[in-house]
Amino acid sequence: MASTTLVGLSWRSNVSPGLSSSPCSSQCSPRRVSSQINMAISVDKKKFTLQKSEEIFNAAKDLMPGGVNSPVRAFKSVGGQPIVIDSVKGSHMWDIDGNEYIDYVGSWGPAIIGHADDKVLAALAETMTKGTSFGAPCVLENVLAEMVISAVPSIEMVRFVNSGTEACMGVLRLARAFTGRQKVIKFEGCYHGHADPFLVKAGSGVATLGLPDSPGVPKAATIDTLTSPFNDVSTVENLFESNRGEIAAIILEPVVGNSGFIAPKPGFLNALRQITKENGALLIFDEVMTGFRLAYGGAQEYFGITPDLTTLGKIIGGGLPVGAYGGRREIMEMVAPAGPMYQAGTLSGNPLAMAAGIQTLKRLKEPGSYQYLDEVTGELIQGILDAGKRTGHQLCGSYISGMFGFFFTEGPVYSFGDAKKSDLAKFARFYRGMLEEGVYFAPSQFEAGFSSLAHSKEDIKRTVEAAERVFQQL
Ligand SMILES: Cc1ncc(COP(=O)(O)O)c(C=O)c1O
Repeated sequence: MASTTLVGLSWRSNVSPGLSSSPCSSQCSPRRVSSQINMAISVDKKKFTLQKSEEIFNAAKDLMPGGVNSPVRAFKSVGGQPIVIDSVKGSHMWDIDGNEYIDYVGSWGPAIIGHADDKVLAALAETMTKGTSFGAPCVLENVLAEMVISAVPSIEMVRFVNSGTEACMGVLRLARAFTGRQKVIKFEGCYHGHADPFLVKAGSGVATLGLPDSPGVPKAATIDTLTSPFNDVSTVENLFESNRGEIAAIILEPVVGNSGFIAPKPGFLNALRQITKENGALLIFDEVMTGFRLAYGGAQEYFGITPDLTTLGKIIGGGLPVGAYGGRREIMEMVAPAGPMYQAGTLSGNPLAMAAGIQTLKRLKEPGSYQYLDEVTGELIQGILDAGKRTGHQLCGSYISGMFGFFFTEGPVYSFGDAKKSDLAKFARFYRGMLEEGVYFAPSQFEAGFSSLAHSKEDIKRTVEAAERVFQQL
């Protein structure tokens, strides 16, 4: 018997009167997108081939470890030939063989207003006429910093870096410096980048490849990393009990995206806020994924819980390499050169990344953005779950705004342990079927999906129809 569970955490479900039913504002270049879509629709599906992708990827394997520069891209957990991308626009992408896909990866999160947005490209072109890197203060840093500070409740001061990994490394050092304590609690299946102290029961590629840990990480680097299952308050309480006065911080993805999509149970984030306060520890939200995605002010605005420190990345760089960490002024003033905690970066505050980030946030701030994300993502997940039910598959799934996930298990999924009950072989078959149908999801059951303002109702309809055809063949 089929069984489906939808945990739709719908937010602001009333669509504002001003919201256009078309997701594409002028900067999405709808004419170009739709003509490309029409061309692709007329291509005979039987012609789907990945011959050129295969040639390029085979060459890459001799040049770069596994043929990639980030592990999950290699399709190890879903098998088959990874696609080699030629171009992206709006909600679509094209591979080197000329196949077109509706994209739900969005470069792993940044493309929330659609790929290659015209206003972002124009801002980049304009900024580039002045140079590509200054290694010195520039006015664009102030603009983006002000936007981030006014949007994210916990952030009174911010430091820009070049990736989410760097942001998490910096924030951990800062939490330890501020509290004078060493230990940190992280949750199983949460990913905070690839710095040594976080490679303990990590999600994302570590989970996808089934790596318990990574060789090369010294014991000394992880000895102070304590772990708990996500959504498990009593384990966290016990850890505080047995490590009295030693825990600097709890760090977590407030909504997990790196074990697939897992939302916090009601009261979980509140409990963490209370426990950290009572024990003189800091609460860190890693919002590299959820920042500006669940709401303009991130998960902390969505759930109304203000952490002490926050990390950001992805969206705030509009598709260029960026990261950031920020928080209360008294904590941030410990960061060099205002204070003694050292952290630096040659390309930090890069003008191109700042310019792309500014344009992206401007677009997101327009009225109706998050209502639209909520609407299309809800339709997508409900459509997929219904199609799964009609075709006799056990599925569960959920979403918030532009972030979603579904698992090949009855559910509910509250932790990485629950996520691992998913039928991974079935997911892999589904994945490859969807690819041939022209739909690109993240190539792992343990990654969340992302929609964007450029995803049209037609994209969603086509995706759901494709899913039903593929489910029928599983
Ligand atoms: C929650 C979270 N934190 C940190 C990171 C690391 O960011 P980056 O890949 O930019 O180093 C990621 C990457 O996906 C992430 O999802």
